[in-house]
Amino acid sequence: MEVRIFDTADEIAVACADIFTEIIKNKPDCILGLATGASPVKTYKELIRRYNNGEISFENIRTFNLDEYCDLPRDDKNSYYTFMHENLFNSVNIKEENVHIPDGNAADPEAHAKSYDAMIDAAGGIDIQLLGIGTNGHIGFNEPSDTFSDGTFKVKLTDSTIKSNSIYFDDDSMPRYALTMGINSIMKAKKIVLIATGEAKADAIKATVDGEVTPMCPASVLKNHPDAILLIDKAAAKLL
Ligand code: F6R
Repeated sequence: MEVRIFDTADEIAVACADIFTEIIKNKPDCILGLATGASPVKTYKELIRRYNNGEISFENIRTFNLDEYCDLPRDDKNSYYTFMHENLFNSVNIKEENVHIPDGNAADPEAHAKSYDAMIDAAGGIDIQLLGIGTNGHIGFNEPSDTFSDGTFKVKLTDSTIKSNSIYFDDDSMPRYALTMGINSIMKAKKIVLIATGEAKADAIKATVDGEVTPMCPASVLKNHPDAILLIDKAAAKLL
């Protein structure tokens, strides 16, 4: 696992967009694994800028998102479907049929999760997976646990995640469950890039980089991946 430390989130966005640009240029029909949340927003802005410059095209790209809340209408302002369209898809030439986000309202979440993994495999696997990290070390919505998860599954969110993400929701309306790619689905990606900024992530980054590989800090598993890069700022790197 490689760790690169930057002064600012803007520098991280450029570095991350550089990695994506290289892959997109080498393989215009590549498969991107995408994340939501605050961490990737600047990277998406930079990719949109490069698309507008004519540097990259999304015409033949297929995307698979990490996760989606359960029991939230797809067009809710807080759904990850809405987030991805507002922050990336509406501003580039991706084809809607090439966009994949787990369906948090699937009648049979287990069957849907299986078919989501099967679709990723059928597409040839993810060429590059973008990740953020929770303050508790989660990646996707793989919360600290006794075992590493396998494929996509329905997860009960922890109090720590509910506390971090409920700032986006009115009242107490944040969903308690989500569908998420599992650790094994994430680890199958050919390349993984994780972004972390700010002091709130310092403990999780310390456990990921310097701690043992343990499902109690799900991101620590990235140490077992042959091509994982952490792009972090000085505040997130503070305890290293
Ligand atoms: C989002 C996701 C989560 C976030 C993590 C960090 O698709 O899977 O793991 O990456 O919760 O969120 P931010 O970036 O908002 O701090």
